[in-house]
Amino acid sequence: MHLWVSYVLLSATSVGTVQMLGSYGEICQRLCACEEKEGILTVSCENRGIGSLSDISPVHFSLYHLLLTGNLLKKLSANDFVEYKGLRILHLGNNDISEVEAGAFNGLQELKRLHLNNNKIDALKEEFFFGLESLEYLQIDYNYVTHVAPNAFSRLRHLEVLILNDNLISSLPVNIFQHVPLTHLDLRGNQLKVLPYSGLLEHMNSVVELQLEENPWNCSCELIALKTWLESISYTALVGDVVCEFPFRLHGRDLDEVSKQELCPRRAIAEYEMPPLPHLSTDAYYRTTPALVTASLTSSGIARSSSRPTKGPRQSDCPTVCTCNLQISDLGLNVNCQERKIEHISDLNPKPYNPKKIYLTGNYIPVVRRSDFNEATGLDLLHLGNNRIARIHDRAFGDLTHLRRLYLNGNLIDHLRAEMFYGLESLQFLYLEYNVIKDVAPDTFQHIPKLQLLFLNNNLLKTLPVGTFNGLTLARLNLRNNHLRYLPESGVLDQLTALVQVDLFENPWDCSCSILELKMWLEQLSTGTVVNNVICGSPKRLAGEDMRYIKTANICPNNSDILASMIPPSEESIPGSTITIETSLDSDTQYSAIPLSVMILALLLMFIVSVFVAAGLFVAMKKRHQKSQNEQNNSMNALVFYRLGLMTHPIIKYILKLFH
Ligand SMILES: *[C@@H]1O[C@H](CO)[C@@H](O)[C@H](O)[C@H]1NC(C)=O
Ligand SMILES: *[C@@H]1O[C@H](CO)[C@@H](O)[C@H](O)[C@H]1NC(C)=O
Repeated sequence: MHLWVSYVLLSATSVGTVQMLGSYGEICQRLCACEEKEGILTVSCENRGIGSLSDISPVHFSLYHLLLTGNLLKKLSANDFVEYKGLRILHLGNNDISEVEAGAFNGLQELKRLHLNNNKIDALKEEFFFGLESLEYLQIDYNYVTHVAPNAFSRLRHLEVLILNDNLISSLPVNIFQHVPLTHLDLRGNQLKVLPYSGLLEHMNSVVELQLEENPWNCSCELIALKTWLESISYTALVGDVVCEFPFRLHGRDLDEVSKQELCPRRAIAEYEMPPLPHLSTDAYYRTTPALVTASLTSSGIARSSSRPTKGPRQSDCPTVCTCNLQISDLGLNVNCQERKIEHISDLNPKPYNPKKIYLTGNYIPVVRRSDFNEATGLDLLHLGNNRIARIHDRAFGDLTHLRRLYLNGNLIDHLRAEMFYGLESLQFLYLEYNVIKDVAPDTFQHIPKLQLLFLNNNLLKTLPVGTFNGLTLARLNLRNNHLRYLPESGVLDQLTALVQVDLFENPWDCSCSILELKMWLEQLSTGTVVNNVICGSPKRLAGEDMRYIKTANICPNNSDILASMIPPSEESIPGSTITIETSLDSDTQYSAIPLSVMILALLLMFIVSVFVAAGLFVAMKKRHQKSQNEQNNSMNALVFYRLGLMTHPIIKYILKLFH
């Protein structure tokens, strides 16, 4: 963008030559700033409030760029550009375009680059791109594209760069790239779950940069094709990661570190393997023209985010034992130091310049020190999985204020304290599974307010202290395979109000009366939130059963304290009430399906009714002195039974009967 700004500045300083500009056409006389340089005319009409192509007039020059960014264009009509023959680069970003008529770009046979980013286009149809025979670069990021027509790009036989990130594409039609010689494809931030080999990947042999991040990848059998394909090109082309969204057990894992067995049952793998690859051009990278790469650097880098680094790294800034690659579209440096027998992070030399992602997976690192990451403020992802980390110094991640994903899984961490995570104010995903964590301080996560995902599975946790989740809005929590027997409702479970998924499997839950809190909490979660079962470890008679399907009365047959505490105290004053409550709950097989809120309402109703009934009974008893004490108790029990069976109709009938 600063390139264009400088164009504008340059043209502003050369106002003296204004009479000369007349020859470029009327557009250069008033509305737009024009500058000719090395045989190319740049016509800058940005932010001029242009609402239609009829507001401007054609340019008289044989080779020019037209910048219409930031205007108010809503629609591109057929033949809008038919008189713009010498146009090579057309910027239409940041308008309001939602409609593109067939033939809108007629006449632009020589157009090489078309920018349509930040508009409101919701579908890519074949007829959009009629006439764009020379197009090499197409940018449509930040639109609302949900639908891509099967032939959308079929006429773009020279298209090399296609930027489609941040749309709503959930699948790509087969053979969409069959005749398109793509070298760069950006699909970040869409809704893709799979990318099949047949009809898609098979046509992407010349791709040297493929961006697939931030899609909800479904890491199942179907993704084997993508994994195999990425391996076959040695991940050279992939600059972003494919991170699993589904299933939950693989959530957040990188596809490259998930085995095929994890993706797919062993016997089915062969079925999903892709056919043998034709010769893949490893030298494809060198076929990319430098100009194109630079182009890609400026446009998509800016379009995607302004906070990304603006200066490219020097080659010498990659630690010698690691490999680095530069993510072309946003200039982030990925540093790969996996399995290099590294023992000290400080040994990495030279320190990487402005890294975006650092993979230190599978080394021998025993400790993370305060100084280890103090020059990595722009870091987005840090992978320290499968090391020997037993100690994390206080504030070791203190400078990583932009870090979003931190992997500490597969280490020897045995306790968690707040100071370890100090400074991680942007952290969203924290992976601590497969450690030996026994002890979690109540304020551990207080410095990580944005935490969304927390994996603590496969540790040695016996409980979590009150306050652990205070102030967080966790969406995903994995506590599978620990030593948990109990979790308190108040101060722990009741803080988890935004949960989307939780896994409590493989814990020795103690299904005695105190577990009812957890059981009820589970029952009020929406369907699908609880992944896997919640199996009782004790007492013996319930071991192996899912607590969600055990009747409350079976869990807690004698003790009524828990239930009594949910019922207004005055209820106790009616003899026999607590016993009847249990009887009624016992007989109510649908109980487990009643949400908590309904439950509370029902109890409130019961309470009101019971007061009414008690009063009624009292009056009735006074009236009928002849009734024996025994009979009275019986009628009372019958009444309470009705009441607790949530059958209001018979209750009213009964009351009416009593009064008559
Ligand atoms: C993921 O793929 C599996 C296997 O094809 C399928 O059963 C499951 O529904 C998919 N999940 C989502 C969320 O699409
Ligand atoms: C319930 O009470 C009965 C009789 O008092 C007793 O035998 C039984 O062990 C008690 N069960 C539990 C789970 O406390």
